[in-house]
Amino acid sequence: MPVGEVYYPSEEVIKNANIKNWDELNERATKDYEGFWEEMANELDWFDKWQKVLDDSNKPFYKWFTGAKTNIVYNCLDRHIKTYRRNKLALIWEGEDGQLRTMSYFALHREVCKFANVLKSMGVNKGDRVTIYMGRIPELIIAMLASARIGAIHSVVYGGFSVESLAERIEDSDSKVLITADGAYQRGKIVPLKQIADEALQRCGTVEHVLVVKRTGQEINMESGRDMWYHELMNLPIATQNCAFEIMDAEDPLFILYTSGTTGKPKAILHTHGGYMVGVYTTLKYVFDIKEEDRYWCAADPGWITGHSYIVYGPLLNGATSFMYEGAPNFPYPNRWWQMIEKYGINILYTAPTAIRGLMRFGESWVKRHNLSSLRLLGTVGEPINPEAWKWYFKVVGNEKCPIMDTWWQTETGMFMITPTPSVPLKPGSGTRPFPGIEMDILDENGNSVKPNEEGYLVIKTPWPAMLRTVYKDPERYVNQYWSKYPGYYMTGDSARRDEDGYYWIIGRVDDVIKVSGYRLGTAEIESALVSHPAVAEAAAIGLPHDVKGNAIYTYVILKNGYEKSSALIEELRNHVAHEVGPIAKPESIEFVDSLPKTRSGKIMRRVLKARALGHDPGNISTMED
Ligand code: PRX
Repeated sequence: MPVGEVYYPSEEVIKNANIKNWDELNERATKDYEGFWEEMANELDWFDKWQKVLDDSNKPFYKWFTGAKTNIVYNCLDRHIKTYRRNKLALIWEGEDGQLRTMSYFALHREVCKFANVLKSMGVNKGDRVTIYMGRIPELIIAMLASARIGAIHSVVYGGFSVESLAERIEDSDSKVLITADGAYQRGKIVPLKQIADEALQRCGTVEHVLVVKRTGQEINMESGRDMWYHELMNLPIATQNCAFEIMDAEDPLFILYTSGTTGKPKAILHTHGGYMVGVYTTLKYVFDIKEEDRYWCAADPGWITGHSYIVYGPLLNGATSFMYEGAPNFPYPNRWWQMIEKYGINILYTAPTAIRGLMRFGESWVKRHNLSSLRLLGTVGEPINPEAWKWYFKVVGNEKCPIMDTWWQTETGMFMITPTPSVPLKPGSGTRPFPGIEMDILDENGNSVKPNEEGYLVIKTPWPAMLRTVYKDPERYVNQYWSKYPGYYMTGDSARRDEDGYYWIIGRVDDVIKVSGYRLGTAEIESALVSHPAVAEAAAIGLPHDVKGNAIYTYVILKNGYEKSSALIEELRNHVAHEVGPIAKPESIEFVDSLPKTRSGKIMRRVLKARALGHDPGNISTMED
């Protein structure tokens, strides 16, 4: 008998499950993981097959499906429009203002081809980087797929980021083209995306063309010779609906996505056409049991990895119908999500603990106004889910019949790594076990596996197809950050424990990454935004527990001589961080201090600040300077 509180799947769920016997598949995939992934790869189309499934001759620079030729967009679109799926809805979209748009596979293919031709006419070639900075609108997906179709590498910057974050990502990726929108609707207000982009472009010098989607319609500045309207370009004769796809090597880059790491600037994680495609296709198929008639909703933002893998590529590879919503969950009322689930008959909902906790605050009655009986499966991602939120989700949203897929993964892993599938028994707060074919462990400082229920470092012991290939332009950082603590093993940056049943329980990050509302931010980004203000000499940021956000940002600031502490200055600094990094990074609190705890080599000891804020013992402080 499993230990702890266990929820067993119903007969109905097991009947629908793509994996009926998890243990059997797991055993087979563990014994021969290359064979398992090869079998999955064979379900997709390739122009040339691989010579080798896994090439590990230059560890940790692994290669998958070497020699194979494909294009992920071919598998997302062209493959389907040859079948009955040409008329199937690929996308159902609702704007925050209630506007509805739908697109069949045929229509999405057409729009992608047209825009791919536009990009080509701007001189975008295979291997060029294209930055995309937009709200959650269909053109964001079209822009990603159009870039990938012609072999360009997309770099999507989340629309909630602001001036400096955008500028440094454009600059680092050396993008010639920026695709953006005039604005985005968020909670009834307009986020002035183009205005932010204009300011960012003054700080970086690589962009030649700015393509602007009209979404909100307010006046914006259009710089002649540089800025062009998307809808005008799409009406030009060059924007024909046929566009040959670039034949890509399995290992050719598909996209880069910036994420926060242990130190310094955000780093660009690089994913490829072949392995990434096989990984996200397989995991979505098995974990969310995607069925032809399903309407699937991943409520993340395409600007983060969850959106890349499980709004854009995974569902399209599976020929699924996806729903996407532009705005805030509680706008104009806290029943917005539940209303849309009922209206569109959503079968699968995949979201984050912070959203669940946020909606839980408004009480059950908002959910109960709606008939949510179409829901069959639920999912969560981004941070540990507290059992209270899990149970509310299970009981109130899922009516005790929808299993919850608690999926642990990362920007770097590209695909689910620790996750249940619908047929396995669940424990609230645990992602259960690694996906079949994935070998993981929890290690102590010396690299030994810890005993059951002991905390340690979470590592991945065998390569997987959707793994990051490198840090773009910085292979050394790839090796140092992920593969050096325990040579041969991938270091996740998380701590975890494993119970007697082999179920994993994630505790949290062990580095300087803070998960705020499931968003990944680095202390360094927040600190450098603070010190870019003329009043600030030094700054430190830490994450402290928060009921809804999971973690909230607390900061400590040393002022430069001549500046007075005041509540007006606190407000100014908070707004400055929001302006530089984005509203998600706005500190919860700013405390003025005269000094910061540092090691003798000058590193800020955030652990000591955190202990002090929580009233805990700071532990070993022998390395502290003063
Ligand atoms: O700490 C883990 C947490 O999110 C980190 C990865 O963040 P990011 O790259 O932004 O990707 C988030 C979406 C895939 C992990 O190192 N995390 C992610 N999923 C879970 C989680 N923590 C606990 N439970 C999860 N299901």
